[in-house]
This record gives sequence, C-alpha cells and structure tokens, in this order.
Amino acid sequence: MARKNVTQQLAPTDEGFAHAVAILTEGGLVAVPTETVYGLAARADSAEAVAAIYAAKGRPSFNPLIVHVKDLEQAERFAHFDNRARDVARRFWPGPLTLVLPMREEAGLAKAVSAGLATIALRAPAHPVMQHLLERLPFPLAAPSANRSEEVSPTRPEHVIASLEGRCPAVIDGGPTHDGLESTIIALREGGRWNLLRPGPITTKALEEVLGPQTVQEKAKIEAPGQTARHYSPGKPLRRNAQEVAPDEFFIGFGAVRGDCNLSDKGDLARAAANLYECLHQAAASDKPRIAIAPIPDDGIGLAINDRLRRAATAS
Ligand code: TXA
Ligand code: MG
Repeated sequence: MARKNVTQQLAPTDEGFAHAVAILTEGGLVAVPTETVYGLAARADSAEAVAAIYAAKGRPSFNPLIVHVKDLEQAERFAHFDNRARDVARRFWPGPLTLVLPMREEAGLAKAVSAGLATIALRAPAHPVMQHLLERLPFPLAAPSANRSEEVSPTRPEHVIASLEGRCPAVIDGGPTHDGLESTIIALREGGRWNLLRPGPITTKALEEVLGPQTVQEKAKIEAPGQTARHYSPGKPLRRNAQEVAPDEFFIGFGAVRGDCNLSDKGDLARAAANLYECLHQAAASDKPRIAIAPIPDDGIGLAINDRLRRAATAS
C-alpha cells in the first residue's frame, strides 16, 4: 500500500525545492521554515488551497491568514501602501513583522485568506529557504503556523510532523528557527495611526522610531482574531512566575532559576524566545502532568514571551 498519510521531510536542495514547488502549484500544502516558526503554506490565490490549510489545522474560518511575499514590490500588488507603510516595510523587511493594510480590490487572493475582512496581513520573511521558495513561485503563500489550531507553534520540522503528520504531504527542513516566536503584527490605519495587534520579535520601541507613538488601542473589536485567549496550549496546566518546582511539575527555567529545560542560562531574552516553544513541546511530551515556568522579565521580547505564556496558561 502507498504510504499516503505520511509527511515527507524534504531537504532544501534543488530536488527538495522542485518537489515543494510542484505540490504548491497544484494547490497542495507544504510546511516551510521561516525565521519565526514553521508555516503551513498554500498558494494564496486559490480558494481550494486555502481551504485545505483551514482543514488541516482545524482552524476556525473567521481567523484570517498571513500572506507571505518576496518583497515590498510584490506586497504592493495586494494592499494599498502609503509612504509610512513603505518606510516601515523598508526598515523591517525581510523580517518578523506583519503589516495589516487595506486590501486592494483587484488583489486576486482567495476570500478565505482574509476571512472576509477588508484588510490583508502581509509579511516578507527573512529565512533563506522560504525566500528561495517564494522566488520560484509566481504567487504568494498564505501560511499560518504549522500546528493544529490552538496547539504550541512548531520551531523544528519534528514539531510539524508531531502535530500534522498525514495532514500535510511535505515539510522542508530548515533546522530550528531563529526567532522562535511568531512575527509582530501591526495594523496601519488612516491618518498616520497604528496599533500593535500581536507582540513579537520586532519591539514596539523599534516600531515607534519609524512610526511615532502608537495610537491608543482601539480595542472594541477583536482585530487579530487568532489572538483569542485559548491558544498555544501545551495540553497541561501551566503555572507562571514559579521560583521552585513541585514534584509533579515539569519545570522550565530562566537565568539563575534552573529547570528540566532552560530558556537561557544567561538570562538572555532573545535566546529564551528562540527556546520557548521547544521547552513547551518537551513539557507537553514529558510524563509530568503539570508545567511550571520561571519568571520572565516584561521588557523587549520578554513582553511577547509573556503574552504567549499568558495564553498558554489560560488554555490549559
Ligand atoms: O511568524 C508568523 O507570523 C508565522 C509565520 C508562519 O509567518 N505565522 C503565524 O500565523 O503566526 P498565524 O495564522 O498563526 O497567525 C496569524 C495572525 C492571527 O492572529 C490572525 O488573526 C492575524 O494574524 N491576522 C491575519 N489577517 C489579519 C487581518 N486582516 N487583520 C487582523 N489580524 C489578522
Ligand atoms: Mg498560530
């Protein structure tokens, strides 16, 4: 019997890329490395391909996807950029920043990508494997994180396979991801206003240097619908700000507070971000029924780490 429900691991070689290009062109799914987390990619201009992403993840259809582009020039085909949007894209792309902008009417993207919103989320990723793939494709790639909905995001191909085995034909192996946390998302609004929708590797301080102060949050509607509390679930209760560990807890350490898995012995927040999901995957797989995690300082990328941990703690 053909091994149909197996996710094939592709090396980032000519042969691997050719295979990935063929699957994507036909409207199939390929999991791809980015500098943040692995994404579950499909062509963004095909309704069926995008529907397959939602089905494989078990993702609610009201939660829109990020469209990955080669560069600013390609991005401008899908959204209206004003000068400040161009400035911020030139400063942070390629990189872990997603811009939510008014969509062009003639964008030609599958409706489900934006879940019916008038805006579109765009990002030009910095990972060389993803860049190489986008260079070879005449269409952009819609890609959410390559995990079942609400689970911990993947930072290695093994995490993708553990979560999506059989639901995605292939994953390109790009090794462990560099940033380890999903991109920062901002909405650029009319009249120079802007808001942070999801904290991430690009800090608010760095953004304010280009965009000026963030507008007071317009929080009336849920604007990044994926940012609902139940998310990033390791499937077990998670206790934050723990100084010591109970016998039934898997302990995630930081700095001087040592654990079963350590985010960074030296207390380096960028290292901690890169290791966070790996430690949560290990905690989920361990035989301990609970998880405890040391305090993480709330500055720089620590804000994004604590954002994910709050959600992970609520989810379980
Ligand atoms: O780093 C990342 O951003 C990764 C990699 C694969 O690029 N992707 C990722 O995708 O985290 P996902 O689907 O897990 O998160 C996308 C977020 C969701 O919270 C979604 O609600 C928000 O982007 N989003 C997408 N389109 C939006 C829009 N038009 N307006 C507001 N939020 C939007
Ligand atoms: Mg996700």
